[in-house]
Amino acid sequence: MATIDTPDIAADETLPVPGKKVFIKTFGCQMNVYDSERMAEAVSPLGYAETGVLEDADLVILNTCHIREKAAEKVYSDLGRIRQVKDERRLAGKDTVVTVAGCVAQAEGQEIIARAPAVDLVIGPQSYHRLPELLYRARSESRRIVETAFPEEDKFSRLPEARVARAATAFLTVQEGCDKFCTFCVVPYTRGVEYSRPVAELVAEARKLVAAGVREVTLLGQNVNAYHGDGDDGRPATLATLIRKLSEVEDLERIRYTTSHPRDMSDDLIRAHRDEAKLMPFLHLPVQSGSDRILAAMNRKHTADDYRRLVGKIRDARPDMALSTDIIVGFPSETDADFEATLALVAEMGFAQAFSFKYSPRPGTPAAKMDEQLPETVKSERLARLQELLDQSQARFNAGCIGKTLPVLFEKSGRHAGQLVGRSPYLQLVHATAEPAVLGHILPVEISAAGPNSLSGVIRAA
Ligand code: 5AD
Ligand code: SF4
Repeated sequence: MATIDTPDIAADETLPVPGKKVFIKTFGCQMNVYDSERMAEAVSPLGYAETGVLEDADLVILNTCHIREKAAEKVYSDLGRIRQVKDERRLAGKDTVVTVAGCVAQAEGQEIIARAPAVDLVIGPQSYHRLPELLYRARSESRRIVETAFPEEDKFSRLPEARVARAATAFLTVQEGCDKFCTFCVVPYTRGVEYSRPVAELVAEARKLVAAGVREVTLLGQNVNAYHGDGDDGRPATLATLIRKLSEVEDLERIRYTTSHPRDMSDDLIRAHRDEAKLMPFLHLPVQSGSDRILAAMNRKHTADDYRRLVGKIRDARPDMALSTDIIVGFPSETDADFEATLALVAEMGFAQAFSFKYSPRPGTPAAKMDEQLPETVKSERLARLQELLDQSQARFNAGCIGKTLPVLFEKSGRHAGQLVGRSPYLQLVHATAEPAVLGHILPVEISAAGPNSLSGVIRAA
């Protein structure tokens, strides 16, 4: 068994009991997707196999997101349904252990226990390496446990090592937490201060993934370009250094990273986009607003012009860079003029993709206490206008690919028989007729059509 802390577990409990099932539901960002996989691996030595059927699950894990109110509330409605299932299973003589993990767990801890009677264990993102031990305690001591401390030890080195590759692409968390304290954001509170994993550990994890069939890794971090993990010389390494190291991994063909902050977009990293063939020409670079007054109130520490200049520099280094972003509308005190400045920036930037949100006040964040909170109707109107513009921008970017031949990494079957789906370097979904044997391979596809959310084309001889 791997290196999990199990000091108090009786010998027979550490033995796998085959036939148990775990149901994991993941909300929110890609880091939660990665964490869910690691949790599945952490409970697998205890005999839990994954199931997609809630009613069959002996262990239910909700891996939650606290970034906006809607995401957090959804967890409680799911917990209502889970309570019913737990009751039905109990009548049939079966136990169900219900765990809430992720950022709602971290932010609301004890409150979840009070609000949701079905929950046995609440576990924050920094304690996943203790999941087996805490599950055992919850069961054997018949008590409900809340574990939301930020422990001294590093969970990554204590989670089971084996990574099960599930596809041609995989996430790899390289950095966690954030010290930026944007005034709207809960991440610095739920994920804690910035922490970066050492280069050697990440290269080793990437090698394992590649040995299991992975061809593309996406390096994850709430503030990934602030990465500063220990390098081979014992000194902090930059994200660009990590990317160069990963580029040396044979058979790893593509590298991506997300999410970046404009202030940490160093010249070194921009140069890596020019020099490293494996680094894909796609950058998710949240701007949040086009108004300098709102950006200052958000504590973003950059202006709209800083962002424009930065994008110019990035495109000088990599002219075909596809740019993606996050934008919030309806931040406290945002005027029509502020919002127009956001629309103007969007019209200029030619975003290939974007995520846009209505501002959602989060408990404990400075912006939630600001005067001039805007009515829901204003937020909704602005979001609709912004999304129309962003959709046009994305459609234009996609249409610009027609006639080009793009290398596509094929990942899975499509909806139609004989069709496979992959991704272009610019992260677009690409559909093509192909044999299943091409899954996990990169092939040139001549793009013949573009929709709002995907492309399609014909495979050309390599
Ligand atoms: N309200 C709305 N959107 C938010 N985001 C973060 N916090 C909030 C909030 N309180 C958005 C930001 C961030 C993305 C992940 O979620 O745009 O970049
Ligand atoms: Fe949140 Fe990103 Fe700002 Fe950090 S940089 S506080 S994660 S929005």
